[in-house]
Amino acid sequence: MDMQKIPVKEGNHNLKDYEKVRETFSWDDMKKHFSWNETGKVNIAYEALDRHAENPEKKDQVALLYSDPDREEKVTFGDLRDESNKFANVLRKYNVKKGDRVFLFMPRSPEFYAAFFGILKVGAIAGPLFEAFMEQAVRDRLQDSEAKVLITTPDLLYRVPQEDLPNLEKIVLVGKHNESADHYIDYQREMKDASNKTEMEWVDLEDGMLLHYTSGSTGKPKGVYHVHNAMIQHYATGEWVLDLREEDVYWCTADPGWVTGTSYGIFAPWLHGVTNVIRGGRFTPDDWYGTLDTYKVSVWYTAPTALRKLVSAGEDVVKKYDLSSLRHIMSVGEPLNPEVVTWGLKAFNLRIHDTWWMTETGAQLIVNIPSMEIRPGSMGKPLPGIEAAIIDNEGNELPPNQMGNLAIKKGWPSMMRAVWKNPSKYDSYFIHGWYVSGDSAYKDEDGYFWFQGRLDDVINTSGERVGPFEVESKLIEHPAVAEAGVIGKPHPERGEIIKAFITLNDGYQNTDELLEDIRLFVKTGLSAHAAPRELEVKDSIPKTRSGKIMRRLLKSWELGLPTGDTSTLEE
Ligand code: PRX
Repeated sequence: MDMQKIPVKEGNHNLKDYEKVRETFSWDDMKKHFSWNETGKVNIAYEALDRHAENPEKKDQVALLYSDPDREEKVTFGDLRDESNKFANVLRKYNVKKGDRVFLFMPRSPEFYAAFFGILKVGAIAGPLFEAFMEQAVRDRLQDSEAKVLITTPDLLYRVPQEDLPNLEKIVLVGKHNESADHYIDYQREMKDASNKTEMEWVDLEDGMLLHYTSGSTGKPKGVYHVHNAMIQHYATGEWVLDLREEDVYWCTADPGWVTGTSYGIFAPWLHGVTNVIRGGRFTPDDWYGTLDTYKVSVWYTAPTALRKLVSAGEDVVKKYDLSSLRHIMSVGEPLNPEVVTWGLKAFNLRIHDTWWMTETGAQLIVNIPSMEIRPGSMGKPLPGIEAAIIDNEGNELPPNQMGNLAIKKGWPSMMRAVWKNPSKYDSYFIHGWYVSGDSAYKDEDGYFWFQGRLDDVINTSGERVGPFEVESKLIEHPAVAEAGVIGKPHPERGEIIKAFITLNDGYQNTDELLEDIRLFVKTGLSAHAAPRELEVKDSIPKTRSGKIMRRLLKSWELGLPTGDTSTLEE
């Protein structure tokens, strides 16, 4: 069968030719777009926000178009600058300084974004946490980062184990509450008294701005450390991949607790000064289409899981809405099924552009840009300025069509600069100057990259990255569970679901009630998205002689695949 190829859409793309751009592109040229290139004064908050607020023509433009079922608010660049200045002053009042970690654990709201920029303005490092995290997930991240201040809502406070967090000096509460202890700061009251003028903390391009915790196959979640220099790539991809234009209304559906929600939910759109639609929660197909229609969204960045839901909802739902403002759609986070791309052509009369990148990479690396032919099922080609290859385990490049490690030549602007307090973990990502992603892929003769899977045990459920170790650790805290092994099991809509194999302690019976109790234990202790959808009781969990859980074997059993080499299996 001939591979399907979707040509460039006539009159509906930027005219930059991919191949030509690759030849002439240089990251240094990109620096011309920033005022620091001349002034030497660096801060991503200035470029994404204050710069627009200082421009009389942009000051009153809506920066943030916020809505949830109870609230709708339009915040201009000028307002957001003032609110974030106030919050910067609040942080300074409580002795927050450059390099301190300030975490946010709250749903998306105008306050979230004001606080986020306030943190950056004092030169502190922002750590956004997904609002669905429960106590264990919050504890791990705040302990590891030694966060000094946390911004949260009174509703979420019960998930913050304050007694285990000796470094946490202050908790800012956004919303009505009855807490009176000294270490609580009332957001509304402080903001009322704060001045809306502040001194921007000018930083170095290599100074920290963001910590995103993410999961590997072993150990606790790790803090991926990003620096202000990433703005160069946020800006570049905003132009080349997001195809942003000043008049656009842009919607990125990701939560800022995940990297897409910061790099592309905050930085790229605002570096380009476009109006940014922010909505919280998980939506029904009517909510998705309704948002696109109501706000006349022109550029939309979403995920395969959402798109698959829209496909199953059928074409009649689409017809209820006027989506004529939509010009450009992109996807990230999981493999984008070719059928979804084909459906997109019918439903929206638009191509869906897949993009590939990771928390660690800070910005998009392999992309389908509007001026490229799309091959459904392929992640696209490396962004101009990026060298990608398929390598073997020794770092040798493999020829086309051969599967191997998807790797990127070290040194792109938005690359993580450290794993927080874990230099050996950081080093383990690189061989011979290549960053090794942990994904397997191949490259075809024309330079398109095709995703094949993860090479480690990391699970991708509905586009959310889950480490099996975190789930296993939580499971064995349950009094009934002796041992646990956790895998990702393929699922048509969610990509993968989490399946846990457990053994029970003496005296416990394998009943539906017990399994449900164990599931809830993970859900309420760690996080809903990390709770196993399937639990199976076994007599034993396969382990290597050195005691490592053989998740591969569990997976092969589950999927009825050959088990491969089991020579290291414990007796
Ligand atoms: O396995 C790849 C998958 O998501 C992983 C990165 O997850 P995370 O750090 O949470 O970042 C997600 C969003 C930037 C990758 O190692 N992944 C990401 N994009 C794609 C993808 N898999 C297939 N196709 C993609 N376009």
